[in-house]
Amino acid sequence: MKLRSMLFVPGDSEKKFAKARATAADALILDLEDSVALEQKASARDHVASLLNDNTPRRWSFFVRPNPFDTGLTYQDLAAVVKPGLGGLLIPKADGAHDIARIAEELDRLEAAAGMAIGTVRIAVVATETPIAMFNLASYTPPHPRLIALTWGAEDLAAAIGATGNKEDDGQWTSPYQMARNMCLFASAAAGVLPLDTLYANFRDTEGLEADCRRARRDGFLGRIAIHPDQVDVINRCFTPSDAEIAEAREIVDAFAANPSAGTLGINGKMVDIPHLKAAQKTLAAIL
Ligand code: COA
Ligand code: MG
Repeated sequence: MKLRSMLFVPGDSEKKFAKARATAADALILDLEDSVALEQKASARDHVASLLNDNTPRRWSFFVRPNPFDTGLTYQDLAAVVKPGLGGLLIPKADGAHDIARIAEELDRLEAAAGMAIGTVRIAVVATETPIAMFNLASYTPPHPRLIALTWGAEDLAAAIGATGNKEDDGQWTSPYQMARNMCLFASAAAGVLPLDTLYANFRDTEGLEADCRRARRDGFLGRIAIHPDQVDVINRCFTPSDAEIAEAREIVDAFAANPSAGTLGINGKMVDIPHLKAAQKTLAAIL
């Protein structure tokens, strides 16, 4: 499943859904959690469930963000949305892989009841939103078979630890959140799932978003959360390998294929060895 851009859409907004479906997002995250007020939770759940009934062909995958366990709403959310058409869940405020196992057990039951193949609904996790989650990032390895991606979040973590801010004056993350971001990246790589960068809150600043996405791609992230339709094209562009990157990757893969006993080669005056080959293979896999 391609997940370069995952666009959040508040689950109670018909208008925003109409707008979101016209974007090129790889996934729409229909939100039942923090973008929906408590008194709208039930109607948002019904709205989202009805959107999933539409089985006309579409370019995006449907994800839903259910409410976390401490709200008491999680099981109702899952019961309403697990049906053919649902591609995945984005699990907020997870403490670690044990929370994913709980969700997955419920999915097993609900998929069977809905006549869906067991394992159809994939799981992406916001893996750094609680303090204890920071100590449990290794628990995602080995990965649950449903696990497809890890992402991270700074706002709930900041609230949980009582921080008065999470950005430096120049807009960079302060050190606790840089650590959360880095650990999310390593945890994703260890588990072999997609690392997705967190949202970029200033949705009018598409230049800033682009520069930040380029840094994220350089660091190893393969996609990003979007909160506004204007962010989607920028994110897709930044997380799609350029023609030059693809050509270079092909050259490396072809050179090693032509020299199967070589561990290191010189290509265009540069040393290329096995880590470069692996990176080139990943680049080519990203375009499939
Ligand atoms: N999905 C779909 N449509 C969206 C959208 C989104 N995430 N964000 C904005 N739009 C729509 C608006 O409804 C508006 O539509 P219109 O032209 O028909 O009036 C248009 O895009 C332009 O929106 P704009 O005026 O620039 O922003 P806004 O002030 O209406 O909305 C937010 C700002 C932050 C409230 C909105 O972007 C949003 O709801 N984002 C998602 C929030 C969310 O889900 N958070 C949870 C994860 S942290
Ligand atoms: Mg949140």
